[in-house]
Amino acid sequence: MAHMASTAPSPVSPEPTATVHAGADGGSASRPRMLSGMQPTADSLHLGNYLGALANWVHLQDTFEAYYFIADQHAITVRHDPALLRRRTRATAAQFLAAGIDPNKSVVFVQSHVPEHSQLSWALQCLTGYGEAGRMTQFKDKAAREGTEKASVGLFTYPVLQAADILLYDAAKVPVGEDQRQHLELTRNLAQRFNKRFGPGLVVPEPHILKATGKILDLQQPDKQMSKSRGGAGCLFLLDDPKISLKKIRSAVTDTGREVIHDPERKPGVSNLLTILSTLSGTGLEDLQATFVGAGYGDLKKETARAFTDFVEPFQTSVHELLCDTGTLDDVLAEGAAAARKQAAARLEVVYELLGFLPGRP
Ligand code: TRP
Repeated sequence: MAHMASTAPSPVSPEPTATVHAGADGGSASRPRMLSGMQPTADSLHLGNYLGALANWVHLQDTFEAYYFIADQHAITVRHDPALLRRRTRATAAQFLAAGIDPNKSVVFVQSHVPEHSQLSWALQCLTGYGEAGRMTQFKDKAAREGTEKASVGLFTYPVLQAADILLYDAAKVPVGEDQRQHLELTRNLAQRFNKRFGPGLVVPEPHILKATGKILDLQQPDKQMSKSRGGAGCLFLLDDPKISLKKIRSAVTDTGREVIHDPERKPGVSNLLTILSTLSGTGLEDLQATFVGAGYGDLKKETARAFTDFVEPFQTSVHELLCDTGTLDDVLAEGAAAARKQAAARLEVVYELLGFLPGRP
C-alpha cells in the first residue's frame, strides 16, 4: 500500500482523501468520512448522551461514511473493574444499535479490537510536547481530583490516543461536545505537524461541535449539564425502570411564573423540559410552545413523560434482545472491527513509511 502516500492529496482539504479511500474500497465515493466515539463508563446511557450525541450520530450516518466506536482503551485511563468494563462495552454497543446506528450503514466497533489505535498513538506521542499535553484542561481537572501521583500516564496521553482514533480514519468531521474542543484542536495540530515534518499523510479534521441539543440539563440543577456524576435525581438513565424516570420528570425543578415558554435565561428548568420534549417528539420549539398556551407546568411534565416513555420502551426492548444474544452482538462488533482495521492499517502503513520505519516482510 506504499502507493497511498503519493495518492494522498493535500491534507488541508480532507474530502479528497476520504473520497480516494471510499472509492478504493468500492464504497460510496460521495460521502465524506466522519467518526465519533464514546467511553463505556456506565451500564446505561442517559438522556443527555442520547439526545446530545447518539441521536445526531443516527442522522449523520445517512450523509457521511460514519465510524462509531466504543473507546474502551480510554476507559482504563482511570482505575476500573475488568468485569464491569466488559459488561459496559457490550451494553454501550447494544445501546448504539438500539438507538438506530445501523451496522449496514456505519462501521461500529470496539477500539481495543483495532490495534492500530495504539500504534498510531505512539507515533503521535513522539510528536506531542510534554508541556502541550500538560495544558489539556480535562487532564488538569482529573489530575487535580486524583492528585498527580495517582493520575496515570495513560490519563496524560489520553488526548493523543484520541487524536490517533480520529486520524486513522481520515475523518473530515468529528461530532463531539463542547468539552472535547481542546482535544480536537490538539488533533488538528498534530496532523498539521506530522504533515509538515514528514509529508502529507494525515487528514486534518474539522470539529463539529454539537450545540442546541447537546445542552440537555440536569432536571434538578438546570444550570448544569445532565451527567451521571451529579448523583441521579436529575439524570434520566435510558435503561432504568421507566417508573423511576417518570418520577424524576414529575419532580423536575421548574421556575417562577406559570407560562410554558422557552427562555433559558429566565426559565432554565422549563426551557430544558421543552428542549427535551421538542427533541424527542421532533416538534420545533415554536410549534411546541403554541400547544402550551393556557396550559401549565404540570401539562408540560405530563407531555414530556409521555414522549420519554414512547421512546424508551421500544429502546429497552431492543437493548435487552441484543444483550440476551451476545454471540450475535459480538459478531456485529467483529465485522465492524474488520472493516475498521482495513482502513486503519492502510493509514498506519502510510504513516510508518513517512516516519522512516523499515517495511517488515509481509
Ligand atoms: N474523549 C471522548 C469523550 O470522552 C471519547 C472519544 C475517544 C472520542 N476518542 C474519540 C470522541 C474520538 C470523538 C473522537 O467523550
